[in-house]
Amino acid sequence: MAGLLRFSSSCAITGASEGLGAVVALHLAKAGAKKLILGARRMEKLLKVKEDVVKQSPSVDVILVKLDVRDAESRANFVREARENSCNVLVNNAGVDRNAFFEKMSDDEVDLVMETNLLSCVKLTRSFLNMMLEAKGGHIVNMCSVASQLPVPFGAIYATSKAGLLGFSASLRAEMIYEKKPVTVHSICPGLVVDAGMASDREERLGLTIREAGRLVGWTTPKRVAEAVIMAIEYI
Ligand SMILES: NC(=O)c1ccc[n+]([C@@H]2O[C@H](COP(=O)([O-])OP(=O)(O)OC[C@H]3O[C@@H](n4cnc5c(N)ncnc54)[C@H](OP(=O)(O)O)[C@@H]3O)[C@@H](O)[C@H]2O)c1
Repeated sequence: MAGLLRFSSSCAITGASEGLGAVVALHLAKAGAKKLILGARRMEKLLKVKEDVVKQSPSVDVILVKLDVRDAESRANFVREARENSCNVLVNNAGVDRNAFFEKMSDDEVDLVMETNLLSCVKLTRSFLNMMLEAKGGHIVNMCSVASQLPVPFGAIYATSKAGLLGFSASLRAEMIYEKKPVTVHSICPGLVVDAGMASDREERLGLTIREAGRLVGWTTPKRVAEAVIMAIEYI
């Protein structure tokens, strides 16, 4: 599993305080990353993730940054930390879902989902891309969802944000390839994730197990998602 990641030594992950982000951090460390720059709003949760990563991979350097991806100043601070630590991998993972009848959603809820899941990723990607192009290499991985490609009743805005992120990633990837620029762009589209993450309380909410609900849209595990992130980084 080490592969190219041995040379992709400094990885920034947004939304690393729990769920998939925390699992991706553990797997990147295991796969050979030298530095992790972990961002999220809840520092106490990030500290626990750091503890787990260092326990598993004592040689990895873990830098914690308080990050609200919706806030421009906070994003600028995250980018500054990443630059100072020669970051060459960005995993845009922070995300929120709001399951609701669309007509009952407020404008604030729409803004929350679109800003967190889409606009912040676009803006962070632009800042990191400039840094990576100057450094002549890098990898961007965007955490999309199967919701980017399938109809999701009660998740219209979530699906919109993820479809937007998928379109953005694919177009930017094509631009990098066309221009022969040394930055790769990938999207990961997990189905419903069992055992961790935002869908893990859905069993109670839906009265269905995720595996049953996943018969419609597919289901997966945090480990498989983390392995997909590593494959994306290592794929040229
Ligand atoms: N779980 C699934 O079934 C599933 C399936 C497909 C795709 N995904 C995608 O995978 C990604 C991770 O989801 P998850 O299931 O791990 O969710 P989760 O357990 O709810 O974790 C979400 C993470 O995002 C962070 N976050 C939320 N708003 C933020 C903000 N404004 N600024 C910075 N960080 C923020 C949270 O940290 P703080 O609250 O500490 O800031 C947390 O670390 C999301 O993009 C999600 O859409 C999940």
